[in-house]
Amino acid sequence: MRVFVTRPIPRPALQILHDGDLQVTLRPHESPIPRAELLAGVAQADGLLCMLTDQVDAEVLDAGPLQVVSNVAVGVDNIDLEAASARGVPVTNTPGALTDATADMTLALLLAVARRVPEGDAMVRRGAFNGWGPMMMLGADLAGRTLGIVGPGRIGAAVAKRARAFGLEILVAARSDHPEVGPRTSIDDLLSRSDFVSLHCPLTEETHHLLNARRLDLMKSSAYLINTARGPVVDEAALVERLRSGGIAGAALDVYEQEPTVHPGLLEFDNVVLAPHSGSATHRTRNAMAAMAARDLVSVSQGLEPQHRVN
Ligand code: GLV
Ligand code: GLV
Repeated sequence: MRVFVTRPIPRPALQILHDGDLQVTLRPHESPIPRAELLAGVAQADGLLCMLTDQVDAEVLDAGPLQVVSNVAVGVDNIDLEAASARGVPVTNTPGALTDATADMTLALLLAVARRVPEGDAMVRRGAFNGWGPMMMLGADLAGRTLGIVGPGRIGAAVAKRARAFGLEILVAARSDHPEVGPRTSIDDLLSRSDFVSLHCPLTEETHHLLNARRLDLMKSSAYLINTARGPVVDEAALVERLRSGGIAGAALDVYEQEPTVHPGLLEFDNVVLAPHSGSATHRTRNAMAAMAARDLVSVSQGLEPQHRVN
C-alpha cells in the first residue's frame, strides 16, 4: 500500500509505516499542504495520513484510489465523513491519546486568564514591576466557584477531574447523563450559573456557533470562557462584542474560527489569553497520536479493520 503523509510527523510513527511495509511518500514541509499538492499526492496514494489542517472532502477522496484516511487528531471536522462513507473509505482518528495533554492545557489556560499570568509576565518584562502591591494584578479564585463543562467526553471528564482538585464545582451540558463528570443541566442554565465555561464538544452542524450572541449574553459578567475544542463553536465576532462591553470577564482560547487567522478584535484585550492550537502539543502526546494513525494505516494494508474508525 502506498501512503501519502501531508507533512513531517514524529519519527516513531514513520517507523511504524516502514515496518508495516508501506510505501511512504512524505511531504517534507513544516506547513499546511496547499490544496493542489494534496490532490496530486492523493492521486498516487492508497492511504492518506493527514492533519486537522487538511480539508479532506469529496474532491480529495475522488482524486485517487484512497482506501483509508487516518487523521492525526481526535477531531474529524476537517473530513467529510459522509462522502468517505459513501465511497466505503474508513476514516480514523486518535481518541484517548491527547486526553490528558488537552485537559492539562485547558487548566493552564483557565489559570492563565483567571490569574493574569501572561499579563504579569509582560509587565515584568517591560520593567513595570515596582514591587508587591495589595491591589496589583488581582484576579479570580477557583475554589468554591463553578466550572461548566460543555461536552463531557473523554477530555471534558479529564478537565473535571483536575478542576475538582482546585475546589471547582462542576456542571455539565450534554445530550445524555454523565454522573461521573458532574450534574447535567441545559446549556443555557450552565452558561448562566458558571464562573468558568470550558468547551469540549466536537465541531458539528449542531455545535457550530453554539456560543452565539444570545448564549454569550447568558454568561455572568464575572465569568471566563475557555475554548480548547474548535474555534467555530464560538461566534468570535459576538465574543469580541461581549469583551468590549464587559459582558464577560475574560477568555482563553486555543482555537479560532478561521485558523490560523485570529479575529483582530481579540488582540485588543489584556483579559484574553491566546494559544496557537497547542492543546495536544507535548512530545509524548504527539508521538502517540501519530503512532496511532500510522498503526491504523498498517491495519488496513493488512486487510484488517482499523482500530479507531469513526465512520
Ligand atoms: C486537536 O485539535 C485534535 O483534534 O486532535
Ligand atoms: C504573599 O507573598 C504573602 O506572603 O502573603
